[in-house]
Amino acid sequence: MARITAGVACSHVPALGAAMDNGRTQEPYWHNCFAGFEWTRAWEAAQKPDVVILVYNDHATAFDMDFIPTFAIGCGERYKSADEGWGPRPVPDVIGDPDLAWHIAQSCILDEFDMTMVSRMDVDHGLTVPLSLMFGQPDVWPCRVVPLAVNVVTYPPPSGNRCYALGEAIARAVASYPEDLNVQIWGTGGMSHQLQGPRAGLINAEWDNRFLDDLVNDPQRLRHIPHIEYLRETGSEGIEMVMWLIMRGALGKDVRALHRHYHVPASNTAVGHIVLEPVG
Ligand code: DHB
Ligand code: FE
Repeated sequence: MARITAGVACSHVPALGAAMDNGRTQEPYWHNCFAGFEWTRAWEAAQKPDVVILVYNDHATAFDMDFIPTFAIGCGERYKSADEGWGPRPVPDVIGDPDLAWHIAQSCILDEFDMTMVSRMDVDHGLTVPLSLMFGQPDVWPCRVVPLAVNVVTYPPPSGNRCYALGEAIARAVASYPEDLNVQIWGTGGMSHQLQGPRAGLINAEWDNRFLDDLVNDPQRLRHIPHIEYLRETGSEGIEMVMWLIMRGALGKDVRALHRHYHVPASNTAVGHIVLEPVG
């Protein structure tokens, strides 16, 4: 039987990927930010997940105003790193797990979550930067990836409550998959940031840290944070944090935090990172 053994959350700032790709992570601006991911890289090397369900958002790369799926699951064999204007990031192709992905799609849809199935797409920084942060710079990624793209770019994104409930449905889907697999689920994006307009550069460390606290202590509070609070308190792109609630919902009632990191700033963004293990 497949098992969800851990949840990981992290920001996906494109400049973090560029700093790794260009060998600049030890420069003064970046050093402390990257230091907070070293623990996780060693832990991941020991955990050896077979598959990561990687909850992320596409930034008008694979999807644009022509198609706006709320929840899109990648059912393809492989995905290329997207060209976001500077050429594709020099990272390995992402290898999918079509059997598991179709199983999750079927289970979630019969569980009344209407997923969009995607067989072909390129993946942008939303997916590749978290892989780089957790796995470093290998020639091939050490596990298969089931991409789960969430619309947080065009209003209306899904509610935090809906995201949490989808996580619970994903947990049921994984638990009913017959193959013996070590599965992790990652929630990515955030934390507070606003990239445009008069409030560009907004960071709210107090709000972000309460969110990190309550991922462990009071996830029921987080489910009911309205969109307007994310917008007001965490900037226009802070809504990416609803994706962390899919990860959290998949872990069950109680979790233990194994590692936590918060760093400001990276580009315009507060970088948050937490590693959670289900308890019981
Ligand atoms: C930045 C952050 C993001 O989440 C993103 O998608 C693009 C840019 C930034 O801080 O530069
Ligand atoms: Fe983003």
